Amino acid sequence: MREQTMITWLQTIIAIILLYVVFEKLRQWRLEGNIPGPSTVPFFGNSLILWDYKNTQDIGRIVMKLQGLMEYGNLCRLWLGHHLIVGVADPKSLEVIFKSNELLNKSFLYDFANDIASGVFVSSGEKWKVLRKIVNKVFHNNNMENQLNVFNNSSKVLCQVLESKCDGKSFKIDNFLHRCILDITCKILASSRNDIQLKKDLTYIEDVHLVAHLSFERLLRIWLYPDFIYKHSTSGKMKQAASNRVLGFGLELINERREFLNEVENSITVEGYSNPKTFLDYMMDYAKARNLTDLELSMSITDLIVAGSDTTACAISYMLLMLAMYQDIQEQVYEEVHEIFGDSDRPMELKDMNRMPVLERVYMEVLRHCCPPHIVRRVDSPLYLQDKRIPVGSSLYIMLYRLHRDPEYWSHPNSFYPDHFLPENVQQRPKYTFLPFVSGLRACPGQRFSFIMMKIIVSTILRQYKITTSVRPSEIKLSMTLMLEISGGSNVQLTRR
Ligand code: HEM
Repeated sequence: MREQTMITWLQTIIAIILLYVVFEKLRQWRLEGNIPGPSTVPFFGNSLILWDYKNTQDIGRIVMKLQGLMEYGNLCRLWLGHHLIVGVADPKSLEVIFKSNELLNKSFLYDFANDIASGVFVSSGEKWKVLRKIVNKVFHNNNMENQLNVFNNSSKVLCQVLESKCDGKSFKIDNFLHRCILDITCKILASSRNDIQLKKDLTYIEDVHLVAHLSFERLLRIWLYPDFIYKHSTSGKMKQAASNRVLGFGLELINERREFLNEVENSITVEGYSNPKTFLDYMMDYAKARNLTDLELSMSITDLIVAGSDTTACAISYMLLMLAMYQDIQEQVYEEVHEIFGDSDRPMELKDMNRMPVLERVYMEVLRHCCPPHIVRRVDSPLYLQDKRIPVGSSLYIMLYRLHRDPEYWSHPNSFYPDHFLPENVQQRPKYTFLPFVSGLRACPGQRFSFIMMKIIVSTILRQYKITTSVRPSEIKLSMTLMLEISGGSNVQLTRR
């Protein structure tokens, strides 16, 4: 009798599983229509592709594998459990996406960053519209070219700090650059008066990296998706602690600014008073109007500070390693810089900015290699790409890594080749083939800011130091935080010129 009951139970369970598998396959088939992609496994879809994640170094490799695996074309699909992901790397489809006023919402995948950031970078809908208006106003009004002294001074401090490393030994330059760029970002966007580069106990940069890596880890492990499971996991607890420290940094900026504004109220001659308003000033008004707590305000400014500093720091670290590896390119850049400044140590001025075409080409080639390898948008209304229906509710996975290495558009897709950006070569490429800052209403607002930082920092370093390295191009492996970065950091040596 007991045996019979067992068999009936077993039959029922098998029947339910079979029904589920058939139903699921039919559902997937109906949704994905004729978008090509790899075959799926019940429950998991294609998420087993992400299975071999072991440590944070693997993220870059998995992203590359994912985009390489999409051999099904520049419009293809993948199932992450029940979620349909449509990969896109075809310039014509990208034009449709970035010109659309509809495809502006971020995918649910960005929700995993919600405990550290809730600003313009991660938000969607009405909230994004309000925040983006503030950001546009700041970047429009805040005439950064009038604040070149901030960029010049921080670059000068960087070179002073680097002096101690000028002993012929190899060292990782990344953290020095991160600190310098964080310093500039906080001074320009939050009017900070502290010198972040000289702070000894700063863990902000490491904490931001830890939070980003743990968020990616969660993304790749679908059993960690439910909040109540993640909160109690080791990774969840580590992320919470690191997020608290990052938000603490934002709170310090807020308090510092408040104290200063109080001082200004009592005196009209306080040095450093900045007009027009900074990003932080606008965000303080925004928070006041909505009764946000200081912690919520910190979350609303953190993503802009991270988006601004981490990206540019990664790009410049990458750039310095490339200049160290390719001495002929470094020489060309140095000659260009020397022609402008001679042997003087005068600061960079506005008139110098447009006289650096070689440096600009090198930076663009760097961004082709290391910009964010993907972005993900949510499909909220019917969409057709290449005559294929993209279902509402799916995510568009925009494969910048693949686009930037497509041999159809790049003569040297896997090499470091700044001539890709010679005017005659740029002219020959179709639009929407180079999108490090993406395009459209949600394009990166910090492009100009990033170029100014790069020009001043790199030229200031090159005027004083020659950069060399023992790393060879074939030894480079990429890992990922927001951008693709050199696994193990940019190891260089500096010699005084
Ligand atoms: C090398 C430098 C940089 C690169 C490659 C870069 C790239 C990008 C990309 C690809 C996006 C779109 C992300 C998405 O839609 O998921 C983005 C958005 C954004 N970036 Fe940048 N960025 C850089 C520097 C900066 C700087 C310096 C700032 C500001 C200080 C900044 C602020 C932002 C903000 C606020 C957004 C969100 C815009 C929105 O969603 O409306 N970025 N960036």
